[in-house]
Amino acid sequence: MRSPALTDLLRTLPEASVELVRRVLACADTRRQRVYLVGGPVRDWLMGRRLRDVDLTVELHKGEDATELAHRVSAGKLRVRVHERFGTVTLQGTGAALDLATVRREQYARDGALPTVEEGTLEEDLRRRDFSVNALAIPLSAAARARRVGIVDVTGGLEDLEARSLRILHARSFHDDPTRALRAARLAPRLGFTLSRHSRAALRAALRDGAFGAVSGDRLRREWVKLFGDAAGQGLDPARSLRLLHDWHVLGALEPGLELDGRAVTPLRRLGRALVEPPWPAGQRRVWVAGMAAWLAPLRAPLRRRVLARLAISGDQATRISEFPRRRDAWLRALERARGRGAVDLLLSGCDEESLLALHAWAPPAARRRIARWAVEDRGRRVPVTGDDLMAMGLTGPVLGRVLERLRVAWLDGSVRTREEALVLAHEISRRSRSKS
Ligand code: CTP
Repeated sequence: MRSPALTDLLRTLPEASVELVRRVLACADTRRQRVYLVGGPVRDWLMGRRLRDVDLTVELHKGEDATELAHRVSAGKLRVRVHERFGTVTLQGTGAALDLATVRREQYARDGALPTVEEGTLEEDLRRRDFSVNALAIPLSAAARARRVGIVDVTGGLEDLEARSLRILHARSFHDDPTRALRAARLAPRLGFTLSRHSRAALRAALRDGAFGAVSGDRLRREWVKLFGDAAGQGLDPARSLRLLHDWHVLGALEPGLELDGRAVTPLRRLGRALVEPPWPAGQRRVWVAGMAAWLAPLRAPLRRRVLARLAISGDQATRISEFPRRRDAWLRALERARGRGAVDLLLSGCDEESLLALHAWAPPAARRRIARWAVEDRGRRVPVTGDDLMAMGLTGPVLGRVLERLRVAWLDGSVRTREEALVLAHEISRRSRSKS
């Protein structure tokens, strides 16, 4: 298949990335270095999807490395982050980043461990990848275009793209890197692909050989963050990925007893939808915490804690996930009792963003409407009286906090409508509290 014209390709990149790519190509062209667009962006371009990130790989001459190229591109103006272990460099411009890697081959010392990398050829670089549809390259720089005319496809990726199939490139791919199963479950619903039969058989073999046990919690957690992050970015239903992992017996391999409980399916779907429409804008950074909380809620508490330990989730995030079912029930009871918008505000403003998302996903219709209305309309409303106004009235300390709280409730309930009315109420509350003390 012919490569696209460079200008056509650049047009489909996020605007901020175009400048970065142009700079890389200009530098590469001065030394006749071969630069290719590889992996996810090629796949997405061929499918007519919006490109989200830019992954470039470069064939260098002897003695050169990607860091040297990155520094020439940057000329001291961009942030250059070097990832020694994998031979990659990230160039950070304004509003865009770009990953630059040298072509390399990988070796896995044991199943599930991180690979060691060494210089290789473009073909080897493509063959070491997860799925054939992610192993395609488009020549970009002049030297690359002169060397290879069309899209580089050494593994039959174009055919699989046509057949909408995710196919691994060798039988031990899941043994080498079991996180590829999580990637498959993330990509399949997003792209409308299925995991090929021979890949499913290879996954079963990796499960049978206990490959998942060797993967660190950190690596697994990073995959879950991406899985729920995709849902946030694109309104996808995270339950679809979880269903695949459940059916493939991957969940139970991560932690015995872990599953997708049927009761979590609708809340998860709701979570995916809520993230691309009001009240929650896309791009929430910690959506995965909400996703985990919603998913694990129906499981028994000890299992939930074991899953958190397995995925190396600790601190606040772990508490939010493990305590969610108890807190959810308490919040829902309190919401039922809350009279007026002020009372709802008082309750929900004490709730962290991730738990709120999960709560909305799990809430029955009436409570859900109240949560959404609060998030869209009330949360951002400001009372026209500030702490400074109250200090000018001689209020300080906890009394000031209490008065502000009461004013806010009255403001949201509509019993106070102007700044003057609010100040009158503030006087009244403070007089009453003084006469009490
Ligand atoms: N890759 C791999 N094995 C992994 C992770 C990544 O082979 N465990 C390869 C794939 O070729 C992938 C590329 O590295 O396309 C870049 O990885 P990443 O950016 O994580 O994936 P994308 O396919 O770009 O997915 P997304 O569109 O979600 O960014």
